[in-house]
Amino acid sequence: MSVQLGDTAPDFTQDSTEGPIHFHEWAGDSWVVLFSHPKDYTPVCTTELGTVARLKPEFDKRNVKCIGLSVDPLKDHEGWSKDIAETQGVALNFPLLADADRRVSTLYEMIHPNADNTFTVRSVFIIGPDKKLKLSLTYPASTGRNFQEILRVIDSLQLTANYKVATPADWKHGEDVIIVPAVSNADAANLFPKGFREIKPYLRTTPQPNL
Ligand code: BEZ
Repeated sequence: MSVQLGDTAPDFTQDSTEGPIHFHEWAGDSWVVLFSHPKDYTPVCTTELGTVARLKPEFDKRNVKCIGLSVDPLKDHEGWSKDIAETQGVALNFPLLADADRRVSTLYEMIHPNADNTFTVRSVFIIGPDKKLKLSLTYPASTGRNFQEILRVIDSLQLTANYKVATPADWKHGEDVIIVPAVSNADAANLFPKGFREIKPYLRTTPQPNL
C-alpha cells in the first residue's frame, strides 16, 4: 500500500552522507522534501543535486530540510559528491541517503518495477512538521525535476495550512488567492480585511492574506 496524502510519513533509520539518519528525529519541526535518484554518477541526477544545493537559502527561508536518496552505497555517494561539487559549482549541503538495502525505497514505493526493477524513479515527497504527507510527485528517470515548482508548492502548502484559501493554477507567491467555498461571504469579510472579489458565488479571490 503506497503512502498517501494525509498519511504519516514512514519513519526509518538509514545511512547517509551526513551519518545515520533517524528520519522523524532528523526532521524535527521542519518541513521536509525527500526525493529519490535512480542512480549515482548519472547526468540528470548530478544537475538536480547541484540545483537543490544552490537553492538551500530558499528552502531555509521556508523552514524546509531537503534529503536525497539513491540506492547506491555510501562509498559511491562520497565519490559522486566530489563530482557534483566540481561540475555544479556547489557542494552537497544536505544529506543523501545510501539506500543500498532498499529499506526506504521500499517503504515509500520509490521502485516502480514496470519502469525499472532495480532503480528508483524520481519521487518527491513533501512532509509537513506534523510528519503527514502533503504532496507526492513521480517523474521518470529521463526527466529532471523543476525545483522552482517544488518551492512554489511549498509556498502554497504553507499558506493554505494557515488561512482558509486555496491557490489557483500557476499561482506564485504574492498573487491573489481563492477563498475556499466553505467560507460564507459574511465570514470572508471578517477573515479577509483586504476585501474580496466575487466572480461567481463559488469563485472568490482575495489578496494573499499573509503579506
Ligand atoms: C540520469 O540521472 O541522468 C539518468 C538516470 C537514469 C536513467 C536516465 C538518466
